[in-house]
Amino acid sequence: MKKSVLNFAGMKKRGEKITYLTCYDYPMACLCEKAGFDMLLVGDSLGMVVYGYQGTNPVTMEQMIVHSQAVRRGAPNTFIIGDMPFLSYQKSVEDAVYNAGRFYKEAEVDAIKLEGGLRIIKQIEGIVDAGMSVMGHIGLTPQSSGQLGGFKAQGLTAESAMELIEDALAIEKAGAFAVLLEAVSPEVGKIIAEKCQVPVLGIGGGMYVDGQILIVSDMLGMFQAFTPKFVKKYANLSEIIAKAFSDYIEEVRTEKFPQEKHCYRMREGEPEKLKALLEKSHI
Ligand code: KIV
Repeated sequence: MKKSVLNFAGMKKRGEKITYLTCYDYPMACLCEKAGFDMLLVGDSLGMVVYGYQGTNPVTMEQMIVHSQAVRRGAPNTFIIGDMPFLSYQKSVEDAVYNAGRFYKEAEVDAIKLEGGLRIIKQIEGIVDAGMSVMGHIGLTPQSSGQLGGFKAQGLTAESAMELIEDALAIEKAGAFAVLLEAVSPEVGKIIAEKCQVPVLGIGGGMYVDGQILIVSDMLGMFQAFTPKFVKKYANLSEIIAKAFSDYIEEVRTEKFPQEKHCYRMREGEPEKLKALLEKSHI
């Protein structure tokens, strides 16, 4: 059965860890639903791991909607979160509510996620007031990684950690059902998870938060451009795929593929009829 924001609140109370993964397409969504993840994120990280951009900022609402629709079709009974892309919410509360609503109307997501703390509180309040569920995202926020000096761990000083704690509490007060913390130390993750009543999920947020998310392409060993410190590779699909591709190329070149079992056959007597027809014709 699909979980709801109430289930996630209950899981936090009971100390049950929430399992969360990014997902971008239909076949992977089918596998994720079968595996039983508590929630899936159609992350704007798809800009990097699916489209090959250097960062997430080129990603458009149209791309996010199409991928969210595919994930929804593959995982109809899983809680799905749509990730609001760069400039879909920063400019105004009106934009934020409209674009969050598009995820709901066009892709039937269960919640949306957006990056930032105090500086986008009005947008979070607006989306919550419109009846939608919001996950905040603080720490390393890829859409503003330029301002942060790159994809770097955050909250490494007491002052910057205090800012993150204030951001998390402001997001919770604005009505978000959860907060995602990216690339912060376990100490800071622990404080934020203890201070917030809502679940605090981590990606590189240490072991004391209420649940974990990884980028599917990283944990399966499919994305090779770089691997952040917080990634654990649970498989090396690149190797498996490379071997399958080279076996296929080799078998086509040496005519080992296809074999009889991979071929269709005409109905009985039809090849002879075709031969006669060809002989009569001028083809
Ligand atoms: O876009 C994304 O995949 C994210 C991750 C950092 C969780 O926001």
